Amino acid sequence: MAQLRLDKYLADMGIGTRSQIKEAAKKGRIQVNGQTEKKTDRKITPGDDQVIMDGQVIGYVHMEYYMLNKPQGVVSATEDRKYQTVVDLIADRQRKDLFPVGRLDIDTEGLLLITNDGELAHRLLSPAHHVDKQYYALVEGELPADAVSQMEQGVTLEDGTVTRPARLELLPEKEGEFTKTLLTIHEGKFHQVKRMFEALGCKVVFLKRLSMGNLVLDPELETGAYRPLTEGEIKNLRNCSIGLRTCCADRKKT
Ligand code: URA
Repeated sequence: MAQLRLDKYLADMGIGTRSQIKEAAKKGRIQVNGQTEKKTDRKITPGDDQVIMDGQVIGYVHMEYYMLNKPQGVVSATEDRKYQTVVDLIADRQRKDLFPVGRLDIDTEGLLLITNDGELAHRLLSPAHHVDKQYYALVEGELPADAVSQMEQGVTLEDGTVTRPARLELLPEKEGEFTKTLLTIHEGKFHQVKRMFEALGCKVVFLKRLSMGNLVLDPELETGAYRPLTEGEIKNLRNCSIGLRTCCADRKKT
């Protein structure tokens, strides 16, 4: 891996700001390869050089990828004055520059990818790639008899926007008077799923994202829990985001 400055190395790992790191170095709290290092512009080769601060070895992690089962009441942001953020939930994170790939509403649950891989995020969110996203939506109100075909043709939202074709599946069992549905969309407009059902005269009372491209929410993950992605999941997502065929097996249907 390419070399980087000692202060960037430590700042990337969330140890502190560059000026705090400079102070710590001045006080002799940092060692590189067993020698006290006071110059924070000194170059480090991650993996080759050993960096210790206050007696603790600080390894360097270039990229992190986590799958979070987002709970309600948490915002899809990196910081917020009022609410806990999805990044705050990743207690084991090492990088300080993690962010959520896309947004789920505060009352939406389910799959959220948290990473610092800006390139992958950009490709996954880019309208050019229109990566599929599948949601479980519990819906109040009578769906029109032709709801499936309306969604398939694209619906007109309240602001006049026409959505791309989406795939609606009505699940056989009911929950009280609510209808259980699965909706797969290929874009990411603000409140898109809720607005699409509104266009059909219904209200979403519960929403959970189940998949994004070929990344599927791990059923073992409790609401609010997270885990690192596997190497395979990362590789598949990369393929998916550059449009290889491992993604979106049902694309041709819509
Ligand atoms: N569509 C919505 O309406 N809300 C979300 O959180 C995600 C998709």
